[in-house]
Amino acid sequence: MAVFTPENGFGGPDGLAYDAGQRNRLNTRHRAFIEPVADRIRDARLLDLASHDGRWSLAALRAGAAHVTGIEVRQDLIDRAPRILSRDEQARTRFIQGDVFEVMPQLLAAGDRFDVIFCLGLFYHVMDHDRMLRQMLAFRPRLVVFDSTLAASDQPMILVGQENTDSHLNAAPGQHAGNRATIGFVSRPALNIMCRNYGYGVDYVDWEALDLPDTAKLDGYFRKNAPTRRYSAFLTPL
Ligand SMILES: C[S@@+](CC[C@H](N)C(=O)[O-])C[C@H]1O[C@@H](n2cnc3c(N)ncnc32)[C@H](O)[C@@H]1O
Repeated sequence: MAVFTPENGFGGPDGLAYDAGQRNRLNTRHRAFIEPVADRIRDARLLDLASHDGRWSLAALRAGAAHVTGIEVRQDLIDRAPRILSRDEQARTRFIQGDVFEVMPQLLAAGDRFDVIFCLGLFYHVMDHDRMLRQMLAFRPRLVVFDSTLAASDQPMILVGQENTDSHLNAAPGQHAGNRATIGFVSRPALNIMCRNYGYGVDYVDWEALDLPDTAKLDGYFRKNAPTRRYSAFLTPL
């Protein structure tokens, strides 16, 4: 059943301002990388990195996660979550405002443990990919659900870019001078090496096999002959 609907707060007068195309994008991503692992999310203690307005935390709770911890650098996004989470779901969720690089070590030191980690739409907004993987995988999760734009190269490399931190979809502000941030697009061979060196394997989702009637707003997953492309994957212990 679709999670991202007006009835669930994704649109409508009291909900978040999502239009039909944005809902279709989220529901299709849900089909690609949440539904196939829903049985592994059930009863899990889950860490949602860059939790934004809580949309994937909600998806985790609807898949039966026992508890969700979200980390999000922008407080105004965290403040939107009550519009999509019921009181019961809010009781099983905590959102921590902060930079994932600072909060993850604090959680680890405090003894928090997570069975499943969501790393969705974050990995191409940073430059310290190996550090992010080290921090995530130190929790020894049984599963990382991963979704990111990556460099579309067969070589193990990182394509360096930059973006504007004024956008609420982009890198954390205040790390670089002004409102720019240096970011990197890791290639799949590079991601495979980095994960393997922490004892994890990477299984990529075959987006072509989803056989979508409409790929509008999802073209990043189907881009050809471009320097970057969107990929989804599952990271599991080797
Ligand atoms: C493209 S959105 C992705 C949101 C959501 N995870 C998803 O996939 O739909 C990127 C999010 O990452 C947050 N973000 C970026 N860098 C961050 C960091 N270093 N620590 C915490 N949040 C960060 C942004 O504020 C934004 O909410």
